[in-house]
Amino acid sequence: MLGPPGAGKGTQAERISISYSVPHISTGDIFRENLRQGTALGLKAKEYMDRGELVPDALVIDIVKDRLENPDCRDGFILDGFPRTVAQADALKGMLSEMGIYIDHVLNIQVPQDVVVKRLTARRTCGSCGSIYHLLYDPPRVEGVCDDCGGELYRRDDDSEETVLARLEEYAGKTQPLIEYYSREGLLWDIDGSAEPDEVFEEIRATVAG
Ligand code: AP5
Ligand code: MG
Ligand code: ZN
Repeated sequence: MLGPPGAGKGTQAERISISYSVPHISTGDIFRENLRQGTALGLKAKEYMDRGELVPDALVIDIVKDRLENPDCRDGFILDGFPRTVAQADALKGMLSEMGIYIDHVLNIQVPQDVVVKRLTARRTCGSCGSIYHLLYDPPRVEGVCDDCGGELYRRDDDSEETVLARLEEYAGKTQPLIEYYSREGLLWDIDGSAEPDEVFEEIRATVAG
């Protein structure tokens, strides 16, 4: 799943994961989980995440390789927020070909920049299960409490306007080239991410069904 910060990758990946019974693999979630547990990896990643910069490729690639070797990935998976650089995409190609797995679709979620900033500055995330909310567009039933698990909602440290703008720059410089990369491989599908979440999901379903 490709798309700028706030495009709705996590929101849609959650639905895809449930609907198609495949694991949702988000490198951002893996880093945040590591940080909560105070691991060296989490602390290292935080230095970059807080500045809105990408974590170095070497740190990311090994984590994904480990994750994809888990047996729950045998019947498919949805990658959210990986790859994000050409080096990561090349590494993914190498690991998948070793495993005899092929990418079916790369979904490029498109959203204008002003929409992204509005979405991220009012996002709330569940600290326990990772569910995603928005104070205006998708509020929880009880303020500050996750509908799914009762966990406490928090605002991500990188969701301040200043850091969001830095993340958008990183996206434009380092990740956007992947649109051309996967387009050349005939794998890229554009999805209009500015519609309602249900409509976006319908477009994804239709695309995946071919
Ligand atoms: P990551 O966690 O992946 O963040 P991101 O890519 O910046 O994307 P977001 O999670 O912010 O947005 P999203 O597209 O998932 O949107 P969401 O569904 O939440 O990465 C964070 C950091 O980790 C990076 O900056 C980097 O430092 C590091 N990192 C991670 N992966 C890396 C990698 N591969 N390489 C290097 N570094 C890496 O939706 C956003 C909001 O909008 C929510 O409030 C939601 O409720 C709302 N919303 C969603 N869809 C809609 C809709 N259709 N209409 C209205 N509101 C909507
Ligand atoms: Mg996300
Ligand atoms: Zn929760």
